[in-house]
Amino acid sequence: MRHILVTGGCGFIGSNFIRYQLSEYSDISITNLDKLTYAGNLENLKEIESHSGYKFVKGDIADSNFVNSLLESTDFDAVINFAAESHVDRSILDSGPFIQTNIVGTQILLDASRKQNIKRFVQVSTDEVYGSLGLEGLFTEETPIAPNSPYSASKAAADLLVRSYYKTFDLPAIITRCSNNYGPYQFPEKLIPLFISNAMEDKDLPIYGAGTNVRDWIHVNDHCRGIDAALRKGEVGQVYNFGGNTEMQNIEITRVILKLLKKPESLIKYVTDRPGHDMRYAIDCSKAESELGWKPETEFQSGLDATLKWYQENLDWVNRIRSGKYLQYYDQQYGNRLNT
Ligand code: NAD
Ligand code: TYD
Repeated sequence: MRHILVTGGCGFIGSNFIRYQLSEYSDISITNLDKLTYAGNLENLKEIESHSGYKFVKGDIADSNFVNSLLESTDFDAVINFAAESHVDRSILDSGPFIQTNIVGTQILLDASRKQNIKRFVQVSTDEVYGSLGLEGLFTEETPIAPNSPYSASKAAADLLVRSYYKTFDLPAIITRCSNNYGPYQFPEKLIPLFISNAMEDKDLPIYGAGTNVRDWIHVNDHCRGIDAALRKGEVGQVYNFGGNTEMQNIEITRVILKLLKKPESLIKYVTDRPGHDMRYAIDCSKAESELGWKPETEFQSGLDATLKWYQENLDWVNRIRSGKYLQYYDQQYGNRLNT
């Protein structure tokens, strides 16, 4: 795997993945194709922008002329598709961009990869395609797909397209499905970075519903190691689940964040629940452990401490994002949740 095309590399997980690859392997080069949506930020890769093994290309995975000419002009060994609209709440407000990027974009990448005989196509997917669990049980790779939000439905549709290109055209594709990530460079609209950023500014922390929904949290570095293992050791046509073995209720996480930041629990605000809110995600990642030799390594408390510290030390990054258009969007959404 010498030349890798990463899509969506200016977002949270993609930027961490590129940094990981370039520090781990000296003989690879990475092209990062990113549209730079509201979630894409060139600053996330500032320290490697002049690295000889790195190239950035601005473009849209749903633009077939652009994608085809990029893949024709460069001899990529692998394509790793991180590019997506990734926030459930935004998908509830407007599913259009989710269909366009997550489904149409994936189809265009698959077709271009097929034409160029790409040796590995890794689709970075999510445990959310499995839907919601009750109090018991874990998602395995055999769990039927049953997405509940427009976001997870669009990711599930993309997974099915990837599967069909493997079955129909022998495209050497692998799908990874990971639980909720946390860590540096996560856009502060997702639970952990939003609550850290709000608490640092003494702003309310809006808990949807009763706060008892459970997510399994994994440090982004562990996810990046998993994708790397799937790329290099995974069997084509297979799905691999990754999780952090750290199930927590949203309210528990919120209390931990407040305690670490020495902020009062009076900042917690219970607001109108998210429609179709999945109750619980939990992952069985024994297949990745036995077949890829992978397991999550970052213990949650130390990972969260480091993440908190990163947000405290990167206030300029946070403040640049939490201004202007994004702040208007956030305040409007928060207002709606208080009023309904
Ligand atoms: P993100 O929202 O932080 O980043 C998405 C990136 O994709 C941005 O840089 C954006 O500019 C780019 N992008 C969006 N539309 C594009 C398009 N049409 N063409 C090219 N680039 C485009 O997302 P993330 O949290 O880093 O997630 C990355 C991937 O991992 C997604 O596919 C997501 O579904 C998946 N995933 C995320 C999590 C999580 O907890 N964040 C968990 C499991 C899986
Ligand atoms: P989120 O980070 O949006 O990830 P996902 O919906 O993909 O799991 O949300 C994580 C959990 O936190 C989810 O149960 C919704 C909840 N949540 C809140 O209670 N308040 C918030 O402001 C946000 C963004 C999320």
